[in-house]
Amino acid sequence: MTRKILVTSALPYANGPIHLGHLVEYIQTDIWARFQKLQGNECYYVCADDAHGTPIMLKAREQGITPEALIERMGHEHQRDFAGFHVAFDNYYSTHSEENRTFSSLIYERLRDAGYIERQTITQAFDPKMEMFLPDRYIKGTCPRCGAEDQYGDNCEVCGASYSPDELKDPVSVISGERPVERESEHFFFRLQDFEGMLRDWAGSGRLQEEMANKLQEWFEEGLRAWDISRDEPYFGFEIPDAPGKYFYVWLDAPIGYMASFKNLCDREGVDFDSFWREDSDAEVYHFIGKDIVYFHALFWPAMLHGAGFRTPTRVNAHGFLTVDGQKMSKSRGTFIMAETYLRHLNPEYLRYYFAAKLSAGVHDLDLNLEDFTQRVNSDLVGKLVNIASRCAGFITKRFDGQLADRLDTPELFRQFTQAGEQIAELYERREFSRAVREIMALADEANQYIDEQKPWVIAKEEGQEQRLQAICTQGLNLFRVLMIYLKPVLPAMGKQAEAFLGLTPQQWGDARKPLLGHTINKFKPLMTRVEPDRIEAMIEESKHTLAPRNGQASAPGGPLADDPIAEEIEFADFARVDLRIAEIVAAEHVEGADKLLQLTLDLGGEQRNVFAGIKSAYAPEDLRGKLTVMVANLKPRKMRFGTSEGMVLAAGPGGEDLWILEPDSGAKPGMRVK
Ligand code: MSP
Ligand code: ZN
Repeated sequence: MTRKILVTSALPYANGPIHLGHLVEYIQTDIWARFQKLQGNECYYVCADDAHGTPIMLKAREQGITPEALIERMGHEHQRDFAGFHVAFDNYYSTHSEENRTFSSLIYERLRDAGYIERQTITQAFDPKMEMFLPDRYIKGTCPRCGAEDQYGDNCEVCGASYSPDELKDPVSVISGERPVERESEHFFFRLQDFEGMLRDWAGSGRLQEEMANKLQEWFEEGLRAWDISRDEPYFGFEIPDAPGKYFYVWLDAPIGYMASFKNLCDREGVDFDSFWREDSDAEVYHFIGKDIVYFHALFWPAMLHGAGFRTPTRVNAHGFLTVDGQKMSKSRGTFIMAETYLRHLNPEYLRYYFAAKLSAGVHDLDLNLEDFTQRVNSDLVGKLVNIASRCAGFITKRFDGQLADRLDTPELFRQFTQAGEQIAELYERREFSRAVREIMALADEANQYIDEQKPWVIAKEEGQEQRLQAICTQGLNLFRVLMIYLKPVLPAMGKQAEAFLGLTPQQWGDARKPLLGHTINKFKPLMTRVEPDRIEAMIEESKHTLAPRNGQASAPGGPLADDPIAEEIEFADFARVDLRIAEIVAAEHVEGADKLLQLTLDLGGEQRNVFAGIKSAYAPEDLRGKLTVMVANLKPRKMRFGTSEGMVLAAGPGGEDLWILEPDSGAKPGMRVK
């Protein structure tokens, strides 16, 4: 019986590039979807860019382009990277699409009409300068518990406290640097609490991994609360149909993007959308996600679907986070590796194989150990798998004109290989990829052992052993062929090359059962080369210098920010926050006990600042008095051993004609803004 299956991966945010952490998910899903297709099931794998929300709106603003232009560009980059890793979506779309607008409105209206939407007036931080409400992540200040400075509006990275932004001391807007004010606004809420019974039933019926089901129990015990699904303008998203100026929160329309992408595919290919999504559908829907977004997929999403009269997901499969060499990915260590960077140095199928060899059905984190990676790929794929073919192919080509024998040398061994297919398929189905790979590699060992014992290279030298030689090599190549079919979900490109070499049309899973006899094959070319350690080093080196992406919109445990004090590149908004002013140096003195410092008194057109500057080696105090310089006027005052420094001068070089030390008659006036 062919099953009807819709598979999705989480929709990557359109404000950052794809990195190896993301790829755990897309490779895992792709392997599973390819496996279903190989089985002959009617399976569709869809995804899209998650294009809405404040970060994307602001990023576009910083770059001086429209959000539409930004998401268009990112969409192309993402698709290029996925294709580079052979992630084969049947459709890749964007949440900023007409289909998604239609479904988001439809689901909202159905929920509203059924009484699941309520309005509440809430008080929220508002940036008076930017004229916008500030998400928690866009407010920074001093932690109310431990006093650590520069902490985000939702939690403290120093002491771990969680709080609301109004509890922060000295809060500032990350966007404008202004102090936020409190402002009221009416928001729309989805009454999640009305779905507790339904969600308990749903979650209790084998749709989640055990760890996730347990997590849900905790959430139920804490109590479900209404979910805020609206945001006020300015916002990049869909306007709520009956509420001008209010938009759907990005996480409302993001999962609906799964449906929208599928609808887009259905319309193009004539697939019956409703048969997959109506309430009593017998099709299967699987979502693959990371463990950081379980709440959205295992609570909000099934509740929204149910409340709006659609079917709920068959299963939600969560995976853990990627670490590299046992640690969080880090830019300074060069382990925050972009998909694009990897592809410049290494074969994508190395990574697909390595992830498969480590992925299980659980939610554990997964470590990419670069030494193990090299060793594993070289020994399994090159040393074992390719070796089977390379040891047999030459004889068939040279001695038998490429013709395989009409019989196998050892049919039992072949049968053993085909019988193992059932167990391997079962493991793929259950997402136990590491166990599937282990089974396949155990078979590869047996195939090599068979060849070791038969020694075709010895037989080739003996008289009158032609038929045996042909049968042995035919046996070896048949074993190789079966293994390549089993590995096709993991190694699609190598599988294709193997098919070309064996002169085969694209093989299905079931084709493995029949041996390939009396068939002509093509000349063997090495199907995979060894991982070269210096390519890995080059990739790490390059990763130290590529841009680490900003975090996504939901704080993800595995998505660390760059940890270098000096950024490779800063956003224009970061630069814009620096207040550069012309200042007159009204006094300049030596500082007792300091070799490098001069104490400057700077006049900003009325206001005076005391600044300690490390420029003694370049300037004598008397040369500076009466000159103009450029200063950072909004640098936070810093206590130094000699006193408090209230700014910073941008002066360097020999002075005099130097750009930053200006003569008073240059037209510059103290206090003038420089940019
Ligand atoms: N846009 C949301 C998902 C919306 S789905 C309706 C999002 N995007 S994301 O770009 O931050 O992440 C996309 C997927 O990649 C998520 O499932 C996330 O868990 C996964 N990963 C992101 N970083 C990861 C690692 N470092 N390791 C493993 N998976 C990671 O969340
Ligand atoms: Zn703290």
